[in-house]
Amino acid sequence: MRIIRIFDTTLRDGEQSPGASMNVEEKLQVAKQLVRLGVDIIEAGFPIASDGDFEAVNRIANEVKGATIAGLARAKEADIKRAYEAVKNAPKRRIHTFHSTSDIHLKYQFRVNREEALKRSVEMVRLARSLVEDVEFSPMDATRTELPYLIDVVEAVIEAGASTVNIPDTVGYTTPEEFGRIIKAIKEKIRDKAVISVHCHNDLGLAVANSLSAVLNGAGQVECTINGIGERAGNCSMEEVAMALRTRKDFFNADTKINTKEIIRSSRLITKITGIPVQPNKAIVGANAFAHESGIHQDGLLKEKTTYEIIRPESIGLQSTKLVLGKHSGRHAFKARLSELGYELSSEEIENAFAKFKHLADQKKDIFEEDLETLVSEEVSKIPETYQLVDLSVSSGMKKQPKASISMKAKGRMVKKIASGDGPVDATYKAISSITKTKSSLLKFEVKSITGGTDALGEVIVSLEENGRTARGHGADTDIIVAAAKAYINALNKLAVRKK
Ligand code: KIV
Ligand code: ZN
Repeated sequence: MRIIRIFDTTLRDGEQSPGASMNVEEKLQVAKQLVRLGVDIIEAGFPIASDGDFEAVNRIANEVKGATIAGLARAKEADIKRAYEAVKNAPKRRIHTFHSTSDIHLKYQFRVNREEALKRSVEMVRLARSLVEDVEFSPMDATRTELPYLIDVVEAVIEAGASTVNIPDTVGYTTPEEFGRIIKAIKEKIRDKAVISVHCHNDLGLAVANSLSAVLNGAGQVECTINGIGERAGNCSMEEVAMALRTRKDFFNADTKINTKEIIRSSRLITKITGIPVQPNKAIVGANAFAHESGIHQDGLLKEKTTYEIIRPESIGLQSTKLVLGKHSGRHAFKARLSELGYELSSEEIENAFAKFKHLADQKKDIFEEDLETLVSEEVSKIPETYQLVDLSVSSGMKKQPKASISMKAKGRMVKKIASGDGPVDATYKAISSITKTKSSLLKFEVKSITGGTDALGEVIVSLEENGRTARGHGADTDIIVAAAKAYINALNKLAVRKK
């Protein structure tokens, strides 16, 4: 059985999804989860793009063990040196460099001819190879590149030291049969001199099918993202490709090292951090992916699960109804449960999360895995609190003008305000904005419940915009208005950090 490498680019191409930018702490949290998930390579970012990107790649390289850490670089000396600086301390590090090869890109965007593009690609692979052992090269827009020239470039960069050649379908243009032929032709030429990787975009909804066709034709690495997020229509979805290979090993004669039980947790983390929801009918991680509605199907399932279920929900980590802790659980059990779930927190983070857990246990009888995840991720992605919620009380009703009375610590000072509004959230937000004097506008407001039941933790995600800067905020509480206030304040704190 061939083992296909999973190269996760959620933190790089995924972050290029509109509105998906993540801060350094959030990226670290994602990188740690990707290690638990068992990906082989984490593309942690594009270090030359900004100081923030550099810092994120660098911290991941320094702090996250268990996967190869890659930094992206254009085929330019400055990019490659910056990528090297960012990844150099990782025990396993990779530079991923790229140059377009299609005539469309060369003529209209880069204004160089094919020979110049090939020469530059070779020189930059050599430079990268002088810095690190593990170099990947991508001929961008490969699927619209004339095949004989594409093969010349691939052979030349392997000769120059690239150990992985990635064939990107940059604009999501190819089809499974055509892509399979391209990969086969490359494989026949290069044999085992380098690993063939594929990087498919989803503009025609074919990213996963194209990647699987490439696997059948010799690709040994698939580039993908959690929930399929990424530039435009996104990238090949990690969970779909991994589950297709796992479920149909018999057909593909290939598998990955993905620990599929971590799939649902990874998907939820990405949704929480980026604010990009998963469509309910999405394969594997959509809310309806395991919901059987038809009577005939339900009848079959009751008799024998395999009649209509090709994937066991538990195999992707869906045990949402699993009770983990209750009101009487102590600090020790709490800590043990967190480490079972794969979280390694500092003692201060554990203390803070434990205090929140006790508070929640007073309001909610049963605490589930998802509740714990919410508490912990709030703790791990903590940012300096310019504003803090101290107390909130709201009155509203059908025949009553909603009113909110809020107490907050703002820049070290205790302040109290009362405001009325069109609804309880509106009143609360008016009170907060009169304290913080924010000029931001609310771009998005979303509410969802973390688990089932009327006592469930409600999660609110908001997006704010101020002077061209955007920030997402999260808040969770059994009281949805309190969750909304926390989310708003969290986003304001992020804007305050950015201003500084
Ligand atoms: O889509 C693409 O071509 C890319 C390259 C940088 C690999 O993201
Ligand atoms: Zn891409």
